Amino acid sequence: MELKEAIKLRRSVRKFESTPVEREKVEEMLRAAMQAPSAHNQQPWEFLVVEDRDKLKELSQVHQFATPLAEAPLGIVVLLNRRQLKAEPFWQQDIAAAVQNMMLQAVDLGLGTVWMGIAPVEHNMARVKEMCQLPEDVEAFGLFAVGYSDRNRFKDRFDSSRVHWETY
Ligand SMILES: Cc1cc2nc3c(=O)[nH]c(=O)nc-3n(C[C@H](O)[C@H](O)[C@H](O)COP(=O)(O)O)c2cc1C
Repeated sequence: MELKEAIKLRRSVRKFESTPVEREKVEEMLRAAMQAPSAHNQQPWEFLVVEDRDKLKELSQVHQFATPLAEAPLGIVVLLNRRQLKAEPFWQQDIAAAVQNMMLQAVDLGLGTVWMGIAPVEHNMARVKEMCQLPEDVEAFGLFAVGYSDRNRFKDRFDSSRVHWETY
């Protein structure tokens, strides 16, 4: 699949087939994530891959919009490692770039994903940190459900009124 096709097809997928996701495909997604740009090349990301059903169910309760994890075959908790930081204020932008790469790679591999926001909501970051027993320097950025699905569909959102040429 060409990149432009993956960009167009990607949608939030909240229901998945029960088929497990192959480890090589997970690694391919994380390879794409780690290819992202980051401020001072700080690469502050880490990833916790979860297949344990009880743990996925627990994570699905972190807030009311995290329910897709309860039935997904795989979850990825995307993390910040504060020890990596060289340009602290930019960390969320760095990790957002990484997860977009990850989601596009997933489409190319025939997978669907949904991003469930955690950072910067401190009480949700604290809950995930507790649930996953993260070390002190490691924070939760977001939760991702991953699995096979045919629900990626193109929806054209281009809106020329959002584009300003030369002057606003
Ligand atoms: C920062 C962020 C947080 C999000 N949090 C959730 C969430 O908690 N639960 C959920 O089902 N979708 C969540 N989404 C997915 C959005 O609802 C979705 O991207 C948006 O409705 C556009 O639909 P699409 O992804 O199918 O194009 C989140 C997306 C982003 C970027």
